[in-house]
Amino acid sequence: MYTYSEFDAAFVAERNRQFRAQVARRVDGSLTENEFKPLRLMNGLYLQLHAYMLRVAIPYGTLGSHQMRQLAVIAERWDKGHGHFTTRQNIQFNWPKLADVPDILDALGEVQMHAIQTSGNTIRNVTADHFAGAAADEVADPRPIAELIRQWSTDHPEFQALPRKFKVAVTGSPMDRAVTLAHDIGLRIVRRDGLIGYQVIVGGGLGRTPMIGKVLHDFLPEEDLLPYIEAVVSVWNSIGRRDNKFKSRIKITVHEHGVDDIRARVDLRYALIRPQFSGIDQQMLGAIRDDFRAPEFRVAPTDTYDAARKANPVFRAWADTNLAEHRAPGYAIVSISLKAHGETPGDATAEQMRVMADLAERYGHDELRISHEQNVILPHIHQSDLHAVHAALREVGLATANIGLISDIIACPGMDYCTLATARSIPIAQEIATRFDALKLEHEIGEMKIKISGCINACGHHHVGHIGILGLDRAGVENYQITIGGDGGADARLGDRTGPGFSADDIVPAIETIMLTYLKHRSNPSETFLAAYRRLGMAPFKTALYGEAEAAKAAKRKAVADVAA
Ligand code: HEM
Ligand code: SF4
Repeated sequence: MYTYSEFDAAFVAERNRQFRAQVARRVDGSLTENEFKPLRLMNGLYLQLHAYMLRVAIPYGTLGSHQMRQLAVIAERWDKGHGHFTTRQNIQFNWPKLADVPDILDALGEVQMHAIQTSGNTIRNVTADHFAGAAADEVADPRPIAELIRQWSTDHPEFQALPRKFKVAVTGSPMDRAVTLAHDIGLRIVRRDGLIGYQVIVGGGLGRTPMIGKVLHDFLPEEDLLPYIEAVVSVWNSIGRRDNKFKSRIKITVHEHGVDDIRARVDLRYALIRPQFSGIDQQMLGAIRDDFRAPEFRVAPTDTYDAARKANPVFRAWADTNLAEHRAPGYAIVSISLKAHGETPGDATAEQMRVMADLAERYGHDELRISHEQNVILPHIHQSDLHAVHAALREVGLATANIGLISDIIACPGMDYCTLATARSIPIAQEIATRFDALKLEHEIGEMKIKISGCINACGHHHVGHIGILGLDRAGVENYQITIGGDGGADARLGDRTGPGFSADDIVPAIETIMLTYLKHRSNPSETFLAAYRRLGMAPFKTALYGEAEAAKAAKRKAVADVAA
């Protein structure tokens, strides 16, 4: 894991000291809320519906046990006993008191964490595959380059007042677990003819105008990556729209100019700045890479695992659902579900955080990850320890066997916390999860990603959900629009709207209707919902949801589209 240099530690401590003074001036009234706003946003502090909210970065989703324990301390001492993990590898605390925030930031600093650039028009927390360094299908660990980008972008003088926030995601696996196609810049580490390079994707994003990113450079050598990214951000910084907040993201710049025009501009800029990169970045990358050396994996028998699987069906169900393939023999990647049926997706109590930290320390080479799907990962667990890990997780309600299933729902905070919300998200997620748990259909339905946002900003990634739910306000009444067929994976796609939205009372029955339609029409039990939708199109789902007339219209549109294609 990356550990702070003296410079890093001094930098964070100095920022905290400055902010402490600013908070003191806000508390004694010498700063108004408006004057204070830009200062607090620089330190990840928002003002939400009921209280301030602090967003803490977990760079590329990696943290150690001591850091997780400190998050537990913060949750207990300064919040209501829990924290909320988000889709951008951050944790949010929803109830800090303003006067306590400097102490929280110091507590974070003690374990080399901070909240810098988790807000504002800057380059935000760099996210990466949550299975990095562990996945069996990995070309290379994406975290060293993510760390280099973080160091380069933190307090970068040219990029503190960008047209809008800017998000970078990196994956090192062909199975894209970082949603690179829906980021301002998505980086994919690829191997071609034995060489490793980077595919650079630009202009993806969700929000009000969702777009899938476009390939800007197909194969960039590693030593050119940082100057190339700097050229991209720099071009956008100079031509990105500042006249209209809704048109400011790079996706609009790429859309308005065309990707070829952007590429030409980037190439020009790149030619100018490339010579300024003398190779120090590559030296730094080499040093960072040392910090991410894989742990010493044990070679040990796995027969206790096989025996536990045979003896204990609850363990077996969990193992079948929540484990992923590790690159080291005898090891597994454990996904801990923060989606117990009926709980708030992404929430963890202080006690749960401590148990996860203890497990990582005892069995998991001291590493934890946060996924963009709001779950926690223990990346390196030997199979012989899985039974003990499962038993400990069960004790604190963390052993729900639902990763990738219908109750593993992403939900933004919505109207429960967020000032921008137009509808609730959390209760809808809770109701769907409990309903399908009661129906006992989860495992039958199989792979299913439901994603819910409480407004068009799309924090819950609804556009790329197999089922997306967008909560809107229709004349003071909550209304939920459904999209189906979205996908956030390697071949990301935006979902299609089913038709008119549903009331809060009708949304769960509507999801049930969609699921029953899928179960009725799938060609065989191994055809996933997404595959069935791609084959069947919208018509049967529309008929089930709205009746024949709407379905006929959908079938006609599909026929026209098929002819046109
Ligand atoms: C409650 C405090 C929050 C506020 C005020 C907030 C605000 C916003 C806003 C204004 C946008 C739209 C930006 C744009 O596209 O121009 C946005 C996007 C986004 N937010 Fe949040 N958000 C909050 C919480 C969260 C949480 C809890 C998550 C994760 C669960 C999250 C994840 C995201 C993501 C992934 C996007 C991406 C949209 C894109 O790709 O452009 N946010 N947020
Ligand atoms: S999608 Fe909207 S309601 Fe949900 S967190 Fe983002 S800004 Fe708030």
